[in-house]
Amino acid sequence: RMPRQIDLASGQFTAGVLHEHTTTVGMLTGLFADQAAWQALPAGTPLYTVAILPAPQQEGELLSGVTHLYPGRVGREFYMTRGHFHQRREQAEYYFGLRGRGLLLLQQAGQCVLEPLFPGSVHYIPPFTAHRLINPGSGTLSALAVWPATAGHDYQALQAQGFGVRIMADGDGWQAEVQHA
Ligand code: F6R
Ligand code: ZN
Repeated sequence: RMPRQIDLASGQFTAGVLHEHTTTVGMLTGLFADQAAWQALPAGTPLYTVAILPAPQQEGELLSGVTHLYPGRVGREFYMTRGHFHQRREQAEYYFGLRGRGLLLLQQAGQCVLEPLFPGSVHYIPPFTAHRLINPGSGTLSALAVWPATAGHDYQALQAQGFGVRIMADGDGWQAEVQHA
């Protein structure tokens, strides 16, 4: 039988799809530092699209999905995914960079680590580690993720404090701004 396929250059699944969901500016209340800049953007502005291959929601199953994070900023802050812990905190994940250049932000026990994401980069996200993609580049950032089907997403846990760093525009580049509680 034919396997599923992915176009490695674009990160698009060419067969076997799936479920697709786009997250827009209006869905991410309170996520970005600059509230006024967030309000000023049309609520329907797409931030990222996730395409997921189906798998049964059972112990031992794996989900696989590609995130396409578009380029742009809310004020000085670059577009990013909402970011989450897995509901099952002990469940890990792999990310693989496919297209564009960006950052993977990992946070465990309050400690932040930034890994550059680029075509061919391989990222292990350990258990108990919150994760978020950030796109400080000028093109779409695409990354393939593989995670346990039972992992689930806990967005709530990060709602109050958020992540410890924000990635802000700095001239032609970016800088990590440490957040103070
Ligand atoms: C799955 C995973 C990714 C993200 C996706 C969108 O465990 O880490 O598929 O779900 O990059 O980010 P969130 O879910 O944080 O909006
Ligand atoms: Zn995840």
